[in-house]
Amino acid sequence: MKKILKFTIYILVFLVLAYFVAIFAINRPIEKWDWQNIDLDQPAQVSKDFIWGVASASYQVEGHHDTGDNWGWWETQVDKNGKPRVLGKAGTGNDEWNLYKEDIKNMKFLGVDSYRFSVSWSKIMPKETQFNEEALAHYDQLIDSLLDAKIIPMITLHHFTHPMWFEKKGAFDKEENIKYFVEFAKKVFERYGDRVKFFATFNEPMVYGYGRHITDTHPNPYGDSNFQRLGVMLKNTLIAHDQVYEKIKSLPNGANSEVGIVKSMMQMDPYCKYDLGDQIVAHYAQKLFADAYVNYFSKGVFNFQAFPVGADVLYKNPTPNNIKLDFIGLNYYSHNAFNLEYLNFDLDKATLPLYYPGEIPTDLDYGYYPEGLYRAIKDISQIKKPIYITENGIGLGEDKEELRKEHLKTAIYDLSKAIKEGYPVKAYYYWSLNDNFEWDSGYSKSFGLFKVARDTQTPTRTPKQSALLYKEIIAKAKQAVTETKK
Ligand code: BGC
Repeated sequence: MKKILKFTIYILVFLVLAYFVAIFAINRPIEKWDWQNIDLDQPAQVSKDFIWGVASASYQVEGHHDTGDNWGWWETQVDKNGKPRVLGKAGTGNDEWNLYKEDIKNMKFLGVDSYRFSVSWSKIMPKETQFNEEALAHYDQLIDSLLDAKIIPMITLHHFTHPMWFEKKGAFDKEENIKYFVEFAKKVFERYGDRVKFFATFNEPMVYGYGRHITDTHPNPYGDSNFQRLGVMLKNTLIAHDQVYEKIKSLPNGANSEVGIVKSMMQMDPYCKYDLGDQIVAHYAQKLFADAYVNYFSKGVFNFQAFPVGADVLYKNPTPNNIKLDFIGLNYYSHNAFNLEYLNFDLDKATLPLYYPGEIPTDLDYGYYPEGLYRAIKDISQIKKPIYITENGIGLGEDKEELRKEHLKTAIYDLSKAIKEGYPVKAYYYWSLNDNFEWDSGYSKSFGLFKVARDTQTPTRTPKQSALLYKEIIAKAKQAVTETKK
């Protein structure tokens, strides 16, 4: 009897130890700083050639998307309960298509050096065999106006949307469709490559793919969730990126260009550090959504493998010593608190709040996590390329301007700290210049430095307090650079 008791105690002790060893092995520390004792009014510590910018995407700001875009189709769809997929239509929106000169004036007011925007594939190529000269000429004018204002353009080729004809072929879910994207990219580069140096092939393929194949927050033509399909699509975006990179480099002006890809680096943290279930879910989420892409551009291996959700895609770069990337674009918003319940991957569960108790919620599912940008820079620096922060911002209603300002100050602190420690951060683009169309949330979320009134005949832009703060931050940083040079 005694022996059995002893044995049972040993087993129990062993199990408890194993539980904590497992937690210890996969735990990623969540940084928290004492912000009370940090001076946030110090000028940003950046180099002379640091790029300050603002970012946007065509579908979110231009309006006039009557050119057969896959988001136009998605805006007409309802879910199985009859609920519209998208909260309202993009419509004329901010009408940047016509009002871009006003936006450039506002960029000048802020003092930014660069504007990151995307070109609309469906406007440029409304049909598989047709390029639209009017759309191409529009971007000529936008680029020339930016250059006249001494603002450097950065073009994103795919920011979540594409033509319906491409969608109908299966978009990036099929490897044989990559050639259409390469053809589009070639046309764009041939047209603008004499004036535009910076190109991002894709914006956040993971976010777009996750919305498409798992949560139905992006156009999903299949009507179900499937991790394997997501993995295959992501692999295809990597192949497409590499092919576009090579194509651009082979064209006149290609050697002077900088071609990168933009990655969202939300950390997938466990909701409860001492809960092995939360740790395991967070571990897989981090592996699939962050590490797999980082591994591809650092080690040449895309390992989108997680047996609990049936994902098993392994793709090796055929030329691992030749990573096709001149910069890595980093988008950062927050971290996600992962809970064991997510293992169900039930779509309704996916709307569970992703913030921690005590964290200030934003208007999206996640919270305000001021240390996160610094962590994201560290994580993405495994890709040994210059880091351009291509998006950073916070979704908050107008009554929360104080928090938007605090968020901006802490972000600038994070990037200065990272630069001081030697991380190669070369640019910071605020998301976004204007409040705009926030995908399935329609116009209900606000990320802009400028508020946009859309109930007037011509949408009008008004600077928020955060716009004035960003202007001051840029001016102070530039002055500090001049003073250190003296
Ligand atoms: C996207 C933007 C979006 C922003 C705020 C990023 O993931 O690139 O298009 O508006 O997040 O949610």
